[in-house]
Amino acid sequence: MKKWTSLFLALAMTIFLPACGSAGNPDTASKPPVSSSIPTAAETPAPTATETPAEEPAENEAATPEDSSSVLIAYFSWSGNTEAMAGMIQEQTGGDLFAIEPETPYTGDYNALLEQAQQEQADNARPALAAQVENWEQYDTVFVGYPNWWSDAPMIVLSFLESYDCTGKTVIPFCTSGGGGFGHSVDSVTTSAAGATVLEGLHVSGSRVESAQSDITAWLDELGV
Ligand SMILES: Cc1cc2nc3c(=O)[nH]c(=O)nc-3n(C[C@H](O)[C@H](O)[C@H](O)COP(=O)(O)O)c2cc1C
Repeated sequence: MKKWTSLFLALAMTIFLPACGSAGNPDTASKPPVSSSIPTAAETPAPTATETPAEEPAENEAATPEDSSSVLIAYFSWSGNTEAMAGMIQEQTGGDLFAIEPETPYTGDYNALLEQAQQEQADNARPALAAQVENWEQYDTVFVGYPNWWSDAPMIVLSFLESYDCTGKTVIPFCTSGGGGFGHSVDSVTTSAAGATVLEGLHVSGSRVESAQSDITAWLDELGV
């Protein structure tokens, strides 16, 4: 019997003593147990699609008016006034801006330009365009801006309108001038944008474009754009 008791004690010491020794070792005592509940890098679940920054553009999209991708603001500007007005319309509508430019740039000389513009009008010219709008079909509403040249729209603006199918589009003219307002340009725009519905435009004097923000806001509100 004593022999069996000694054997049992010897066996028990072999099993339990090493475990007690390791618990007292500072090196190992401070380490988390192997099966810690803190996930290691390898165990950390990869972020799901909804947690990644890929969500952010969706939020940005929601901040823009839903139909802004269907609004185009096309403008021609020789000395910058109409371009400034176009920028204000763009800011408020979120639409796409497009600068109408002739293939052969207009002269930079004011007096020569007066003559050139008058000649183009007399010839009922349609100057060639430098570029075309991509995805014209996506736009339902097209703002068309220009300076008053000799009481009409510059001929390049008519080239622009006539180079697209305007059927079913809503065209909204805007204009800057030295005091002559739209002149008879709205008639020309209406004829060139065949098939479009032309809404009430806004004219701003070239010298006061920078302070026209509130007029532009009121006009856009009235249009509901
Ligand atoms: C060739 C030419 C013709 C113009 N004809 C007129 C005109 O008949 N009536 C008018 O009020 N302003 C006229 N202007 C003045 C412009 O309409 C005005 O300065 C406009 O704001 C310029 O716009 P922009 O800076 O976008 O080119 C004319 C300017 C030029 C260069």
